[in-house]
This record gives sequence, structure tokens and C-alpha cells, in this order.
Amino acid sequence: MKENWIAPSILSANFAKLGEEVDNVLSAGADVVHFDVMDNHFVPNLTIGPLVCEALRKHGVTAPIDVHLMVEPVDRIVPDFAKAGASIITFHPEGSIHIDRTLQLIHDCGCKAGLVFNPGTPLSHLEYVMDKLDIILLMSVNPGFGGQSFLPSALTKLRQVRKLIDESGFDIRLEIDGGVKTDNIREIKAAGADTFVAGSAIFNQPDYKKVIDDMRAELAKAG
Ligand code: DX5
Ligand code: ZN
Repeated sequence: MKENWIAPSILSANFAKLGEEVDNVLSAGADVVHFDVMDNHFVPNLTIGPLVCEALRKHGVTAPIDVHLMVEPVDRIVPDFAKAGASIITFHPEGSIHIDRTLQLIHDCGCKAGLVFNPGTPLSHLEYVMDKLDIILLMSVNPGFGGQSFLPSALTKLRQVRKLIDESGFDIRLEIDGGVKTDNIREIKAAGADTFVAGSAIFNQPDYKKVIDDMRAELAKAG
């Protein structure tokens, strides 16, 4: 089993002081910065692009930056994010006509690559590309906004993907995104996740370290 990664989603951070927010959440014990990119086309919201990723790197952020692209098309923006300092780039299969080519493009740009599945998206997209994946991200909300409730159907899907990964023998992380809180992270881990995105659960609390410590304590109970 892989080391657990906690990946705060900066979507719920205070954008007026983003560098400080990211520094604070990393010093509170976060492993990865989850960076939500929305285009007001693939999802009904508009957020941040490569300039902001580059600004975080220039600010001194050295932790992995996990860029979750909720955009369509995908390919044009991939090299820009790689240049801006992205470590991992994930995208939704609905956003790219040629998913195999997009995964290759992300690798060619020097980043780790992953596919993201909306709650209603079937897992069949995985069938021929397992060898090209570093991470699989399951959405436990419909993408577009922070602060939504965790959809329990994601637990069934997590168990299915955990099995596919284990049977494949490939070294692939399993990430969950949406509605992750201290009180459900344990069952999410038990269902097979190893990478936990949490936005509002962390940034809406005054003490980031307390939330992350509490989450780790819950994860430890899951074994
Ligand atoms: C939703 C985003 C998530 C979101 C999670 O479209 O992909 O990363 O910020 O926020 P919470 O943890 O508040 O559900
Ligand atoms: Zn996300």
C-alpha cells in the first residue's frame, strides 16, 4: 500500500493571499497542492491557469503541484502547465478526443499523468491505457465547485478501481476528490484511496494543522 497523501484543494483558499495560504497548508503537513483548473465550458466555473501555477513556483513552493484540468480541449494547455511547474496533470476523458495521445503528451512534457472520472463516467476508459497512468482520480462530487457533499457511489467505484489497479500490477495512485472530510476519510481509505483531496474541509477551518492531523489519525485507524 502506498503512503497516504493529503492534497488540499486551493479552490477553497483565500486567493487574495494565495502564496501564504499554500505555505501555511504545506507547513501544516499537506503532501501535495491540488490545483483546480476550470474553464467555464467543461464545467460551469472559471478559476486559475498556468500563470498562477508559475507564480506559486516563483513564490518558492517546492511541493508537488497536482493540476486537475476541468477543461476542454486539454492538449493545448498541457505544455503551458508543464512549463509553469506542474508535477501531475490529470484530465477528464470527455475533455480529450484522443486520450492515449494526451497521456503521452503529458509524459513527454515531463509530468505524471492521470485520468479523472466524474460520478457518472464509466470506468471503461481505463481499459487500454492502464500502462500510461500514474494516477487515477475519482470525483465524489460533480466537478465545478468546492463545498459539495460526498456522493456515496464513489465508494463502490473506488473499490472497483482499487481491484483494477492491484490486478494490473502497475504503480498507480488512486485519488479521491470532493466532499472529503475528517469524518468520512477513514471509509474512503478503506475503499482503496491513497490520495485525498480536501478543499473546504481544510481551508474553511482556522487551524489547518489540526484538520490534517485529525485526517491522518483517521487514516491510521483504517490500517
Ligand atoms: C471540484 C474540485 C475539487 C474541490 C473539492 O470540482 O475538483 O477539487 O475543490 O472541494 P471540497 O473538498 O470542498 O469538496
Ligand atoms: Zn479537483
